[in-house]
Amino acid sequence: MASNKPRVLSGIQPTSGSFHLGNYLGAVRQWVALQESHDAFYMVVDLHAITVPQDPAELKANTRFAAAQLLAAGVDPERCTLFVQSHVPEHAQLGWIMNCLTGFGEASRMTQFKDKAAKQGAERATVGLFTYPILQVADILLYQADQVPVGEDQRQHIELTRDLAERFNGRFGQTFTLPAPYILKETAKIYDLQDPAIKMSKSASTPKGLINLLDEPKTTAKKVKSAVTDTDTVIRYDAEKKPGVSNLLTIYATLTGAGIPELEQKYEGKGYGALKTDLAEVMVEFVTPFRERTQQYMDDPETLDSLLAKGAEKARAVAAETLAQAYEKVGLLPAKH
Ligand code: AMP
Ligand code: TRP
Repeated sequence: MASNKPRVLSGIQPTSGSFHLGNYLGAVRQWVALQESHDAFYMVVDLHAITVPQDPAELKANTRFAAAQLLAAGVDPERCTLFVQSHVPEHAQLGWIMNCLTGFGEASRMTQFKDKAAKQGAERATVGLFTYPILQVADILLYQADQVPVGEDQRQHIELTRDLAERFNGRFGQTFTLPAPYILKETAKIYDLQDPAIKMSKSASTPKGLINLLDEPKTTAKKVKSAVTDTDTVIRYDAEKKPGVSNLLTIYATLTGAGIPELEQKYEGKGYGALKTDLAEVMVEFVTPFRERTQQYMDDPETLDSLLAKGAEKARAVAAETLAQAYEKVGLLPAKH
Protein backbone atom coordinates (compact mmCIF):
# COMPACT_ATOMS: atom_id res chain seq x y z
CA MET A 1 0.00 0.00 0.00
CA ALA A 2 2.29 2.76 -1.22
CA SER A 3 1.35 6.28 -0.37
CA ASN A 4 2.95 9.51 -1.44
CA LYS A 5 1.67 11.39 1.57
CA PRO A 6 4.33 12.38 4.08
CA ARG A 7 4.51 9.98 6.98
CA VAL A 8 3.97 10.72 10.67
CA LEU A 9 4.56 8.46 13.62
CA SER A 10 4.02 8.87 17.34
CA GLY A 11 3.54 6.87 20.51
CA ILE A 12 2.04 7.17 23.95
CA GLN A 13 2.77 5.15 27.07
CA PRO A 14 0.13 3.04 28.80
CA THR A 15 1.45 4.01 32.22
CA SER A 16 -1.73 5.24 33.82
CA GLY A 17 -5.40 4.45 33.44
CA SER A 18 -6.13 7.86 31.98
CA PHE A 19 -4.53 10.29 29.57
CA HIS A 20 -4.13 13.76 31.01
CA LEU A 21 -4.93 17.05 29.39
CA GLY A 22 -1.27 17.65 28.49
CA ASN A 23 -1.14 14.38 26.52
CA TYR A 24 -4.27 15.33 24.65
CA LEU A 25 -3.50 18.96 23.85
CA GLY A 26 0.24 18.46 23.36
CA ALA A 27 0.07 15.34 21.22
CA VAL A 28 -3.07 13.29 20.62
CA ARG A 29 -5.07 16.20 19.23
CA GLN A 30 -2.43 16.66 16.53
CA TRP A 31 -2.47 12.93 15.80
CA VAL A 32 -6.15 13.16 14.98
CA ALA A 33 -5.66 16.15 12.69
CA LEU A 34 -2.62 14.70 10.89
CA GLN A 35 -4.27 11.42 9.92
CA GLU A 36 -6.26 13.42 7.33
CA SER A 37 -3.21 14.70 5.47
CA HIS A 38 -0.49 12.18 6.33
CA ASP A 39 0.22 8.48 6.23
CA ALA A 40 -0.01 8.07 9.99
CA PHE A 41 1.30 5.41 12.39
CA TYR A 42 0.27 5.66 16.04
CA MET A 43 1.12 3.23 18.76
CA VAL A 44 0.74 2.41 22.41
CA VAL A 45 4.32 1.99 23.61
CA ASP A 46 4.08 -0.80 26.17
CA LEU A 47 7.79 -1.69 25.85
CA HIS A 48 8.60 1.85 26.96
CA ALA A 49 6.19 1.54 29.88
CA ILE A 50 8.13 -1.36 31.41
CA THR A 51 11.27 0.76 31.81
CA VAL A 52 9.75 1.49 35.22
CA PRO A 53 8.04 -1.23 37.29
CA GLN A 54 4.50 -2.08 36.14
CA ASP A 55 1.95 -4.42 37.60
CA PRO A 56 1.34 -7.01 34.82
CA ALA A 57 -2.46 -7.05 35.05
CA GLU A 58 -2.56 -3.27 35.17
CA LEU A 59 -0.21 -2.92 32.23
CA LYS A 60 -2.45 -5.12 30.13
CA ALA A 61 -5.56 -3.20 31.15
CA ASN A 62 -3.87 0.16 30.61
CA THR A 63 -2.70 -0.85 27.14
CA ARG A 64 -6.33 -1.44 26.15
CA PHE A 65 -7.31 1.75 27.97
CA ALA A 66 -4.77 3.75 26.02
CA ALA A 67 -5.98 2.33 22.70
CA ALA A 68 -9.62 2.97 23.69
CA GLN A 69 -8.80 6.57 24.58
CA LEU A 70 -7.01 7.15 21.29
CA LEU A 71 -10.09 5.87 19.46
CA ALA A 72 -12.36 7.99 21.66
CA ALA A 73 -10.24 11.04 20.87
CA GLY A 74 -10.79 10.47 17.15
CA VAL A 75 -7.84 8.35 16.03
CA ASP A 76 -9.48 6.34 13.27
CA PRO A 77 -8.08 2.96 12.22
CA GLU A 78 -9.58 3.51 8.77
CA ARG A 79 -7.39 6.58 8.34
CA CYS A 80 -4.20 5.52 10.11
CA THR A 81 -2.34 2.50 11.44
CA LEU A 82 -3.01 2.06 15.17
CA PHE A 83 -1.10 -0.65 17.00
CA VAL A 84 0.66 -1.83 20.13
CA GLN A 85 4.46 -1.59 20.08
CA SER A 86 5.16 -5.09 21.46
CA HIS A 87 3.04 -6.62 18.69
CA VAL A 88 5.75 -5.60 16.24
CA PRO A 89 8.99 -7.31 17.36
CA GLU A 90 11.06 -5.26 14.91
CA HIS A 91 11.04 -2.38 17.42
CA ALA A 92 13.18 -4.29 19.88
CA GLN A 93 15.34 -5.65 17.07
CA LEU A 94 16.19 -2.30 15.52
CA GLY A 95 16.48 -0.92 19.05
CA TRP A 96 19.44 -3.22 19.63
CA ILE A 97 21.23 -2.00 16.51
CA MET A 98 20.64 1.60 17.57
CA ASN A 99 21.97 0.81 21.07
CA CYS A 100 25.18 -0.30 19.42
CA LEU A 101 25.51 3.04 17.61
CA THR A 102 24.85 5.29 20.59
CA GLY A 103 27.61 6.66 22.75
CA PHE A 104 27.31 6.14 26.48
CA GLY A 105 27.93 9.86 27.02
CA GLU A 106 25.38 10.75 24.40
CA ALA A 107 22.70 8.66 26.12
CA SER A 108 23.72 10.12 29.48
CA ARG A 109 22.80 13.60 28.28
CA MET A 110 19.11 12.79 27.83
CA THR A 111 17.35 15.10 30.26
CA GLN A 112 14.22 12.99 30.60
CA PHE A 113 16.33 10.03 31.71
CA LYS A 114 18.09 12.20 34.25
CA ASP A 115 14.77 13.47 35.64
CA LYS A 116 13.13 10.07 35.78
CA ALA A 117 16.22 8.38 37.20
CA ALA A 118 16.56 11.05 39.88
CA LYS A 119 12.95 10.43 40.92
CA GLN A 120 13.63 6.76 41.56
CA GLY A 121 17.08 7.15 43.03
CA ALA A 122 19.70 6.94 40.29
CA GLU A 123 21.11 3.58 41.45
CA ARG A 124 17.77 1.87 41.08
CA ALA A 125 16.95 3.15 37.60
CA THR A 126 17.07 0.31 35.08
CA VAL A 127 19.30 0.02 32.04
CA GLY A 128 16.01 -0.10 30.11
CA LEU A 129 15.18 3.39 31.33
CA PHE A 130 18.63 4.52 30.25
CA THR A 131 18.15 3.18 26.73
CA TYR A 132 14.51 4.28 26.53
CA PRO A 133 15.26 7.10 24.04
CA ILE A 134 17.14 4.66 21.79
CA LEU A 135 14.12 2.37 21.54
CA GLN A 136 12.17 5.49 20.62
CA VAL A 137 14.72 6.16 17.87
CA ALA A 138 14.03 2.68 16.49
CA ASP A 139 10.25 3.28 16.70
CA ILE A 140 10.58 6.32 14.49
CA LEU A 141 13.18 5.09 12.00
CA LEU A 142 11.44 1.77 11.32
CA TYR A 143 8.62 3.66 9.63
CA GLN A 144 10.82 6.22 7.83
CA ALA A 145 8.71 8.91 9.49
CA ASP A 146 9.01 12.46 8.15
CA GLN A 147 7.43 14.07 11.19
CA VAL A 148 6.80 13.15 14.82
CA PRO A 149 3.93 14.91 16.59
CA VAL A 150 4.81 15.22 20.30
CA GLY A 151 5.00 17.69 23.18
CA GLU A 152 8.07 19.81 23.88
CA ASP A 153 9.50 17.29 26.39
CA GLN A 154 10.23 14.91 23.49
CA ARG A 155 12.26 17.32 21.36
CA GLN A 156 15.62 16.02 22.56
CA HIS A 157 14.62 12.45 21.68
CA ILE A 158 13.78 13.50 18.12
CA GLU A 159 17.16 15.21 17.88
CA LEU A 160 18.82 11.99 18.99
CA THR A 161 16.82 10.18 16.31
CA ARG A 162 18.17 12.52 13.65
CA ASP A 163 21.73 12.12 14.93
CA LEU A 164 21.55 8.34 14.91
CA ALA A 165 19.86 8.20 11.51
CA GLU A 166 22.63 10.38 10.11
CA ARG A 167 25.32 8.28 11.76
CA PHE A 168 23.84 5.05 10.42
CA ASN A 169 23.42 6.51 6.93
CA GLY A 170 26.97 7.87 6.99
CA ARG A 171 28.48 4.61 8.11
CA PHE A 172 26.42 2.11 6.14
CA GLY A 173 24.82 4.06 3.28
CA GLN A 174 21.49 5.86 2.92
CA THR A 175 18.89 3.86 4.85
CA PHE A 176 16.81 6.08 7.13
CA THR A 177 14.72 9.22 6.70
CA LEU A 178 15.66 12.04 9.08
CA PRO A 179 12.48 12.95 10.96
CA ALA A 180 11.46 16.44 12.09
CA PRO A 181 9.63 17.17 15.33
CA TYR A 182 6.05 18.37 14.88
CA ILE A 183 5.51 20.47 17.97
CA LEU A 184 2.81 23.14 18.01
CA LYS A 185 4.05 26.21 19.82
CA GLU A 186 0.77 27.00 21.56
CA THR A 187 0.27 23.61 23.15
CA ALA A 188 3.84 22.29 23.33
CA LYS A 189 3.73 22.45 27.10
CA ILE A 190 0.56 22.43 29.19
CA TYR A 191 1.23 23.35 32.81
CA ASP A 192 0.11 21.95 36.13
CA LEU A 193 -3.00 23.80 37.38
CA GLN A 194 -1.61 24.11 40.90
CA ASP A 195 1.96 24.91 39.93
CA PRO A 196 2.12 26.62 36.54
CA ALA A 197 5.92 26.56 36.66
CA ILE A 198 5.98 22.81 35.95
CA LYS A 199 4.46 20.80 33.11
CA MET A 200 1.29 18.83 33.69
CA SER A 201 2.42 15.28 34.32
CA LYS A 202 1.08 12.05 35.71
CA SER A 203 3.84 12.11 38.30
CA ALA A 204 2.62 15.44 39.72
CA SER A 205 3.15 15.76 43.47
CA THR A 206 -0.50 16.64 44.00
CA PRO A 207 -3.35 15.31 41.84
CA LYS A 208 -5.12 18.67 42.13
CA GLY A 209 -3.13 20.20 39.31
CA LEU A 210 -3.51 17.21 36.97
CA ILE A 211 -6.57 16.91 34.73
CA ASN A 212 -7.14 13.25 33.93
CA LEU A 213 -9.53 12.92 31.03
CA LEU A 214 -11.27 9.92 32.56
CA ASP A 215 -11.87 11.52 35.97
CA GLU A 216 -15.44 12.21 37.02
CA PRO A 217 -16.42 15.43 35.21
CA LYS A 218 -17.33 16.91 38.61
CA THR A 219 -13.76 16.39 39.81
CA THR A 220 -12.42 18.00 36.66
CA ALA A 221 -14.68 21.03 37.10
CA LYS A 222 -13.50 21.38 40.68
CA LYS A 223 -9.84 21.23 39.68
CA VAL A 224 -10.34 23.91 37.04
CA LYS A 225 -12.14 26.15 39.52
CA SER A 226 -9.33 25.87 42.05
CA ALA A 227 -6.53 26.48 39.52
CA VAL A 228 -3.77 28.76 40.78
CA THR A 229 -3.70 32.16 39.07
CA ASP A 230 -2.09 35.32 40.47
CA THR A 231 -2.89 38.34 42.63
CA ASP A 232 -3.49 40.64 39.73
CA THR A 233 -7.05 40.50 38.34
CA VAL A 234 -6.57 41.10 34.63
CA ILE A 235 -7.26 38.27 32.21
CA ARG A 236 -4.41 38.62 29.78
CA TYR A 237 -2.00 36.18 28.09
CA ASP A 238 1.52 36.68 29.42
CA ALA A 239 3.33 33.38 29.83
CA GLU A 240 6.11 34.89 31.91
CA LYS A 241 4.28 37.19 34.27
CA LYS A 242 0.95 35.38 34.38
CA PRO A 243 1.69 31.68 33.80
CA GLY A 244 -1.44 30.35 35.53
CA VAL A 245 -3.90 32.54 33.65
CA SER A 246 -2.02 32.04 30.38
CA ASN A 247 -2.23 28.27 30.78
CA LEU A 248 -5.99 28.49 31.34
CA LEU A 249 -6.34 30.69 28.26
CA THR A 250 -4.33 28.23 26.16
CA ILE A 251 -6.51 25.32 27.27
CA TYR A 252 -9.70 27.31 26.71
CA ALA A 253 -8.63 28.54 23.28
CA THR A 254 -7.53 25.12 22.06
CA LEU A 255 -10.62 23.28 23.22
CA THR A 256 -13.07 25.80 21.79
CA GLY A 257 -11.19 27.07 18.73
CA ALA A 258 -11.50 30.66 20.01
CA GLY A 259 -8.49 32.92 19.59
CA ILE A 260 -6.68 34.15 22.70
CA PRO A 261 -7.28 37.85 21.85
CA GLU A 262 -10.96 37.03 21.50
CA LEU A 263 -10.99 35.47 24.96
CA GLU A 264 -9.09 38.42 26.46
CA GLN A 265 -11.75 40.68 25.07
CA LYS A 266 -14.60 38.49 26.26
CA TYR A 267 -13.27 38.56 29.83
CA GLU A 268 -12.27 42.20 29.94
CA GLY A 269 -13.36 43.64 33.28
CA LYS A 270 -14.42 40.22 34.53
CA GLY A 271 -12.73 38.28 37.32
CA TYR A 272 -10.83 35.00 37.30
CA GLY A 273 -13.93 33.32 38.74
CA ALA A 274 -15.87 33.92 35.53
CA LEU A 275 -13.06 32.54 33.39
CA LYS A 276 -12.69 29.43 35.53
CA THR A 277 -16.43 28.75 35.69
CA ASP A 278 -16.72 28.93 31.92
CA LEU A 279 -13.60 26.85 31.34
CA ALA A 280 -14.88 24.25 33.81
CA GLU A 281 -17.99 23.98 31.65
CA VAL A 282 -15.96 23.68 28.46
CA MET A 283 -13.92 20.90 30.08
CA VAL A 284 -17.00 19.02 31.26
CA GLU A 285 -18.48 19.20 27.78
CA PHE A 286 -15.27 17.81 26.36
CA VAL A 287 -14.62 15.00 28.83
CA THR A 288 -18.19 13.70 29.18
CA PRO A 289 -18.53 12.24 25.66
CA PHE A 290 -14.84 11.28 25.70
CA ARG A 291 -15.40 9.11 28.80
CA GLU A 292 -18.49 7.55 27.27
CA ARG A 293 -16.74 6.65 24.05
CA THR A 294 -13.75 5.22 25.90
CA GLN A 295 -16.07 3.08 27.99
CA GLN A 296 -17.82 1.77 24.88
CA TYR A 297 -14.51 0.56 23.46
CA MET A 298 -13.54 -0.95 26.81
CA ASP A 299 -16.86 -2.80 26.98
CA ASP A 300 -15.97 -4.69 23.81
CA PRO A 301 -12.37 -5.87 24.25
CA GLU A 302 -12.65 -8.42 21.43
CA THR A 303 -13.34 -5.76 18.83
CA LEU A 304 -10.60 -3.62 20.31
CA ASP A 305 -8.06 -6.45 20.27
CA SER A 306 -8.89 -7.43 16.71
CA LEU A 307 -8.57 -3.85 15.55
CA LEU A 308 -5.13 -3.68 17.20
CA ALA A 309 -4.12 -6.98 15.61
CA LYS A 310 -5.00 -5.60 12.17
CA GLY A 311 -3.02 -2.47 12.92
CA ALA A 312 0.00 -4.53 13.98
CA GLU A 313 -0.14 -6.48 10.74
CA LYS A 314 -0.10 -3.28 8.69
CA ALA A 315 2.70 -1.83 10.80
CA ARG A 316 4.75 -4.98 10.60
CA ALA A 317 4.76 -5.00 6.83
CA VAL A 318 6.54 -1.64 6.88
CA ALA A 319 8.76 -2.34 9.89
CA ALA A 320 9.99 -5.70 8.58
CA GLU A 321 11.12 -4.18 5.31
CA THR A 322 13.13 -1.45 7.04
CA LEU A 323 14.65 -3.89 9.51
CA ALA A 324 15.73 -6.23 6.70
CA GLN A 325 17.51 -3.32 5.01
CA ALA A 326 19.21 -2.32 8.25
CA TYR A 327 20.37 -5.90 8.95
CA GLU A 328 21.75 -6.17 5.45
CA LYS A 329 23.59 -2.85 5.69
CA VAL A 330 25.14 -3.73 9.04
CA GLY A 331 26.35 -7.05 7.63
CA LEU A 332 24.28 -9.52 9.62
CA LEU A 333 24.30 -12.82 7.76
CA PRO A 334 20.79 -13.66 6.55
CA ALA A 335 19.37 -17.04 7.59
CA LYS A 336 18.89 -19.22 4.49
CA HIS A 337 15.70 -21.30 4.54
P1 AMP B 1 3.65 10.14 27.68
O1 AMP B 1 2.47 10.09 28.58
O2 AMP B 1 4.92 10.48 28.39
O3 AMP B 1 3.76 8.92 26.81
O4 AMP B 1 3.42 11.37 26.69
C1 AMP B 1 2.60 11.29 25.54
C2 AMP B 1 2.66 12.56 24.74
O5 AMP B 1 2.12 13.66 25.49
C3 AMP B 1 4.10 13.00 24.36
O6 AMP B 1 4.09 13.44 23.02
C4 AMP B 1 4.39 14.13 25.30
O7 AMP B 1 5.31 15.06 24.76
C5 AMP B 1 3.02 14.76 25.45
N1 AMP B 1 2.90 15.49 26.73
C6 AMP B 1 3.02 14.96 27.98
N2 AMP B 1 2.84 15.90 28.92
C7 AMP B 1 2.62 17.07 28.25
C8 AMP B 1 2.35 18.42 28.66
N3 AMP B 1 2.28 18.76 29.95
N4 AMP B 1 2.17 19.36 27.70
C9 AMP B 1 2.23 19.03 26.38
N5 AMP B 1 2.47 17.78 25.93
C10 AMP B 1 2.65 16.81 26.84
N1 TRP C 1 8.84 8.80 24.65
C1 TRP C 1 7.50 9.20 24.29
C2 TRP C 1 6.83 9.82 25.54
O1 TRP C 1 7.21 9.58 26.63
C3 TRP C 1 6.67 8.06 23.80
C4 TRP C 1 7.22 7.48 22.54
C5 TRP C 1 7.77 6.25 22.36
C6 TRP C 1 7.23 8.08 21.25
N2 TRP C 1 8.12 6.03 21.09
C7 TRP C 1 7.80 7.14 20.36
C8 TRP C 1 6.82 9.32 20.77
C9 TRP C 1 7.99 7.43 19.01
C10 TRP C 1 7.02 9.61 19.42
C11 TRP C 1 7.60 8.67 18.55
O2 TRP C 1 5.89 10.52 25.39
